[in-house]
Amino acid sequence: MKSETRYTAVVPSNIALIKYWGKKDGHRQLPSNDSISMTLATSTTQTTTQIIDSGSFQIFYDNHQLFESDPFAKKIFAHLKVLAKELNFKSKLSIKTKNSFPSSCGIASSASGMGALTLSSVAAWSDSHSLKDLEERGFYLEKLAKLARLGSGSACRSFWGGMVHWQTGESENLQLVKQLHPNTHWDLSDIIVIVSKKSKSLPSSQGHLSAQSSSLFRPRVASIPSRIADIKLALEEKDFHSLGRIIEQDSNEMHAVMMSSSPAINYYQKETIDFLEWFKFHRFKHNTPAYTTLDAGPNIHVICESKNANSIKEQIRDQFPNYEILLDHIGTGPTLYTETKEIS
Ligand code: PMV
Repeated sequence: MKSETRYTAVVPSNIALIKYWGKKDGHRQLPSNDSISMTLATSTTQTTTQIIDSGSFQIFYDNHQLFESDPFAKKIFAHLKVLAKELNFKSKLSIKTKNSFPSSCGIASSASGMGALTLSSVAAWSDSHSLKDLEERGFYLEKLAKLARLGSGSACRSFWGGMVHWQTGESENLQLVKQLHPNTHWDLSDIIVIVSKKSKSLPSSQGHLSAQSSSLFRPRVASIPSRIADIKLALEEKDFHSLGRIIEQDSNEMHAVMMSSSPAINYYQKETIDFLEWFKFHRFKHNTPAYTTLDAGPNIHVICESKNANSIKEQIRDQFPNYEILLDHIGTGPTLYTETKEIS
């Protein structure tokens, strides 16, 4: 009797509080600046992988087969090939993947997607049934994070729960990703306001390439070390208003770099601006303890302490009844499980 094993990874997305934008080395994905993110709990990618007897990889997204010619799938096939080459694994894989949230609209689907693809593929190739098994085979979280980073930079931060710091160094070996605080340190929430489900105007992988053409890029990179020190202190002391001011400034600054690059990139849509204007005024009027941040997309992440999340979400819903609003919170990081069945 033969058996067949499926390796399922569930990897969360993360929201960058200090963003990375621009790379020192695009090929090895070495960022120009440090970043700090909060790992989410319910915005996840679930990827199930199985070894197959075939000459090529098979990929299914939401039960639809994807082909290499499909622009959405290109990055996935390319990352699988990179992983196979880096690790010298020869077998082909069948991969089934789905997101718990709309992809390509400013929730980091590439972070959770490349994270889950990496974790489930390495588990299948190395026949690892748990994170502990992976560790015993030399695939520590640090190593998995480095591999995932090659598919999407921000994916490396999704391998730990809580608050995660990606420290950039001059070389591959100096890329350190580590947990700053576990999720139990401070119960924070992310209210994700989906003002648009349209795909990104430009994938972030291309946007990173033009960052250096902005005259705001160098001053931004130079100011990041002191901002990192400030946010670390705010996190340590659970000083919400300092945290909020820092994350809003950082997000606005990253988008200013994007808009002043050549070619200019604008992820904001009219709905984004309308929301941000309303939010600023509403916060001023009601002293609402919440701050906004946006990744490479038009949708808005409203960060608050979890004790205030439901009430703030309802205030947003009252004003914008037609927008989908996801309420997520700080999470614990990835999981891996397997199912084995006998086949005749
Ligand atoms: O993960 P990448 O390489 O696609 O870049 C994403 C960058 C931002 O999401 C805009 C910011 C960040 O640090 O996550």
